[in-house]
Amino acid sequence: MSPHTPFNRRQWFKSSAAALAGITLAARLRADTTPSAPAGVAPGEPVRLSLNENPFGPAPAAVAAMQARAADVCRYATVDATTLINTIAAKEGVEASQIVFGAGSGEVLEAYGALLGSPAGEVVCANPTYGQLTNAMKRRGSTLVEIPLNERKEHDLAAMAAAVTATTQCVYVCNPNNPTGTTVDAERLRRFVREVAARTPVFVDEAYLECADDFAASTLVGLVGEGLNLTVARTFSKIHGLAGQRIGYAVTTPEMAAKIRAHVIGGPNLLAYVGAQANLDDSGYVDRTREKIKAGREELLALLRELGRDYAEPQGNFVFFHTGRPIEEFRTAMRAEGVIVGRPFPPYLEWCRISIGTPEEMGVAHAALRKVLGIKL
Ligand SMILES: Cc1ncc(COP(=O)(O)O)c(C=O)c1O
Repeated sequence: MSPHTPFNRRQWFKSSAAALAGITLAARLRADTTPSAPAGVAPGEPVRLSLNENPFGPAPAAVAAMQARAADVCRYATVDATTLINTIAAKEGVEASQIVFGAGSGEVLEAYGALLGSPAGEVVCANPTYGQLTNAMKRRGSTLVEIPLNERKEHDLAAMAAAVTATTQCVYVCNPNNPTGTTVDAERLRRFVREVAARTPVFVDEAYLECADDFAASTLVGLVGEGLNLTVARTFSKIHGLAGQRIGYAVTTPEMAAKIRAHVIGGPNLLAYVGAQANLDDSGYVDRTREKIKAGREELLALLRELGRDYAEPQGNFVFFHTGRPIEEFRTAMRAEGVIVGRPFPPYLEWCRISIGTPEEMGVAHAALRKVLGIKL
């Protein structure tokens, strides 16, 4: 499995000139209202479709709320944290004691890995999948048992269940999966979790699930109430458009929540709580954003079909498709056309992950794809 760790991401930010472009892009998205310069695209600057960000951003009310509270950052975030934890507990139908906040859901994944990782056992996961939790465990000596995706590039739940032994420390399921974007059938996943969580802790990462067509029927949070050893993670980085603010959370049993919380070092900042709260208070925000992401996704799939490209059935804010040539070569060609796409994801070294951007960004991406994929090798 290729690591997708914060360390790698930090390195990338340090070394890449694109980081600067990303910062100016974000600033422009907020500041530029002139009709002659479409949001997110500026001459000479690349379009960043490599990190599964949501460039539609948080709700305008969330931006206003964070601006209004900027001077309060001399305070610790106690009141805002309590307000948000109560809002989330009501939304998820659980007690506040069952919620664990992190500086992004990434910190929750790290804390969970710190809690369970040791040389005494294994973590069962898909390959490829998001590597933050499994790498946190590996760093502590755990062995990774990586189960290949099935032919639809979905988790192979039967093979994963069969890989669980007496020394398994946990099972990680990423739904939708990063990098493939596929979901697993909700009923099959429920059966899997009921069976496997009786034997070992299960972690279901729902970072992208609110982008999916049927979130309500697909989320596993409802199973936490059955007393299973299940932890479900969500983030405000994806559909809520708050990636730079660093806030996410897990829902689990009160006992597990206390154990995970003990390994959380940082947690969100005051403005992250304020922004997340305002986004949740805007009841139509998630649906509106999902529609925008879905529209961009559908248009991209239509283009890929036209260009004769195979793709995994996507439910997140990104698409994983067959390039027909080495991904490094493809990335270089796309970069030359002004588009930064995802890194290589072994073993699929002729596949590319591309995030859904604004319509203007996707216009640049479509033109680049037509040019790069249109060239016969
Ligand atoms: C599947 C998955 N889980 C968790 C994360 C962590 O995101 P964050 O720490 O921003 O919540 C990511 C980030 O890309 C992800 O793809």
